[in-house]
Amino acid sequence: MAKIVGGIGCSHVPAVGAASDHGKTKDGYWTPLFNALPAARKWLSDLKPDVMILVYNDHGSAFSLELIPTFAIGTAENFKPADEGYGPRDIPDVEGHAELAWHIAESCIMDEFDLTIANKMDVDHGCTVPLTVFFGEVEKWPVRVIPICVNVIQFPPPTANRCFNLGRAIKKAISTFPEDLNVVVAGTGGMSHQLQGERSGVVNTEFDINYLNQLSEDNDKNRYMNHIDYIREAGSEGIEMVMWQIMRGAMEEKIVEKFRKYHVASSNTAFGIICFENEEA
Ligand code: DHB
Ligand code: FE
Repeated sequence: MAKIVGGIGCSHVPAVGAASDHGKTKDGYWTPLFNALPAARKWLSDLKPDVMILVYNDHGSAFSLELIPTFAIGTAENFKPADEGYGPRDIPDVEGHAELAWHIAESCIMDEFDLTIANKMDVDHGCTVPLTVFFGEVEKWPVRVIPICVNVIQFPPPTANRCFNLGRAIKKAISTFPEDLNVVVAGTGGMSHQLQGERSGVVNTEFDINYLNQLSEDNDKNRYMNHIDYIREAGSEGIEMVMWQIMRGAMEEKIVEKFRKYHVASSNTAFGIICFENEEA
């Protein structure tokens, strides 16, 4: 059967992707962040993942304000990096896993999570920057990726608890897929940041560190926090962090933290990555 072998929370700062694409990872500004990543990459490759469920948000690239699915699952075999205004990033296409994606869609919809089915969807930095963080510069991504896209762009986004419960439904779906696959679930976006308005530039380190600690030890506070409070504490784009709850919901109650890096500043955003395994029974 398919099995969840790991869970990751990770930021999607576009400048991190650009630093990697343009050979700037050894620049003074980026060194502290990129020097931390080999340990996370080794942890991940040791898990021998076959498929990654990558929960992310689109930033008006595949969807526009004309059409805003709350939750969409990518059921295609192939996803192209989106053109976000500077041409698409020069990175490999993202290869999907249609069979597992359709299984998850069916299982979740039967579980009353009515996912939108996306048979074609370009993936923007929300999806591709975490892949760069996880795998670096590669000719081919070493896992198949099922992108699950969440609306955190247009109010009202789903609550953190709704996201957590979707994670539970995804967990159930994976556990009933008959093929032996190692699956990693990544919840991405965040951490605290605001790119617009009066509070543009806000970073709340205390909130972020608490969020990471609570993810490890007492996630109920993150799970039941009102999304208005996410925005108040973490900035208007800090709402992206509700997507980490989908990862947390997909993991068992008892988890073990394997890696963490928190770094400010990364562009306008507090960068965070945290890695978990389920505790052995
Ligand atoms: C930045 C962060 C984001 O989450 C995003 O979608 C775009 C830009 C930034 O920090 O620059
Ligand atoms: Fe973003």
